Formats: sequence, structure tokens, C-alpha cells
Amino acid sequence: MSKVLLGPTTLVLPTPAFLIGSSVDGKPNFMAAAWSGVVNSDPPMISVAIRPGRHTHRGISQNSAFSVNVPSVDLTRETDYCGIRSGAKVDKVAVCKFKIFYGKLATAPLIEQCPLNLECRVVQTLELGSHTLFIGQVEETHLSEDCLTDGKPDIDKIRPLIYTQAPFRRYFAFGEVAGQAFRAGLELEGKT
Ligand SMILES: Cc1cc2nc3c(=O)[nH]c(=O)nc-3n(C[C@H](O)[C@H](O)[C@H](O)COP(=O)(O)O)c2cc1C
Repeated sequence: MSKVLLGPTTLVLPTPAFLIGSSVDGKPNFMAAAWSGVVNSDPPMISVAIRPGRHTHRGISQNSAFSVNVPSVDLTRETDYCGIRSGAKVDKVAVCKFKIFYGKLATAPLIEQCPLNLECRVVQTLELGSHTLFIGQVEETHLSEDCLTDGKPDIDKIRPLIYTQAPFRRYFAFGEVAGQAFRAGLELEGKT
């Protein structure tokens, strides 16, 4: 098999498309973020990499708090809008008609229309170059009741949005199930 060299890139596919919430000068604001993910399980932590120029960067720095809101595919337009307009210029909450609520952290606004919301308290900040990495400890997780099946989160009901970075620059919904994790590999040992 032949490969072409693309040089050092950040090309990992896919990435999430989250809506990062913060309170900037006392006002709720949301930004689309693809460079975000789980970094620790105990205690639960999530990181998000944000360029210093963003209004969101200002909000997180002011309060040491942010929220991770997982949009469903129904919120594709709103998510994209929050990624192409800055809260420094427009009121994204008003344009997107987001209904805001708060949990444990008074400065981590949450979006009711997103099926899944996590409240995070910043525990570490790393200046990496182009981006600042904020590591947040998850203080609470909120899941819409109608996304439960038998009392457990149901991915088919959450329907999270996925993003594929340049050169694709497209949003996707989950496709077909490829296998059962922590079990599919056992087939290689003849076990099922
Ligand atoms: C799908 C998508 C993902 C993005 N991911 C990030 C990211 O991870 N980090 C970042 O700094 N900007 C990211 N951006 C750009 C910001 O969302 C964008 O600059 C936004 O306008 C910033 O809003 P704010 O100024 O209100 O914080 C992304 C944009 C899109 C459309």
C-alpha cells in the first residue's frame, strides 16, 4: 500500500461539534468547538482548545468555568452559526433562540435544546501556541429525559452532530453501527 505524506497536520477524523458556553461580561455566549474531548475519567475532565482572540476565551478566563453542550443534528444551523459569528458582535443566544438554564455553576450557561450538557470548572490552563487548552473538571451532567431508554443515555435519541475538518468541512450524523466495542476484537481469538 502506498501512502502520501501530508506533513504535520491535525487531521484526525471525525471530531465533535460541541457548543462551548461561557459567561462573558455577565452575558451567556456559545462557540462551536471541534478541538475538545475527554482527558480524564476520575475525576471526569474535558478539554477544549480555544484561540485567545475568541469572546469565549475571555469568558472562560473571567470565570474559570465553561459548559460543553452536545447539539443534536437538529441544531446544525445553530451550531454552525456559533462557529462563524462572534459574541463580541452579535447576540448568538437571541439569534439561535437558545433557552438558557444554569446548574451548579452560575457562570456556565447551558442550552436547553441540546440533549446533553456538562458543567465544567477550569482546573488547568495550558498555552500551547495558537490555542489555549482549558481543562475542565465536570461538576454535573444534564441529559434530556426523552433521550433515555430503560434509564440509560440512548445515542439514537441524542443524535449528536459530528464535524470533519478542512478540507471536508462538513457536519455528519452518526451512520451505521460497525461493531460492539470491547467485544468485536474477541472474534480474532475465535470468541464471540
Ligand atoms: C465546526 C467548528 C468548529 C470550531 N472549533 C473551534 C475550536 O475548537 N477552537 C476555536 O478556537 N475555534 C473553533 N471554531 C471557531 C469559533 O467557533 C468561532 O471563531 C466563533 O465565532 C468564536 O465565537 P466567540 O468569539 O463568540 O467565542 C470552530 C468553528 C466551527 C464552525
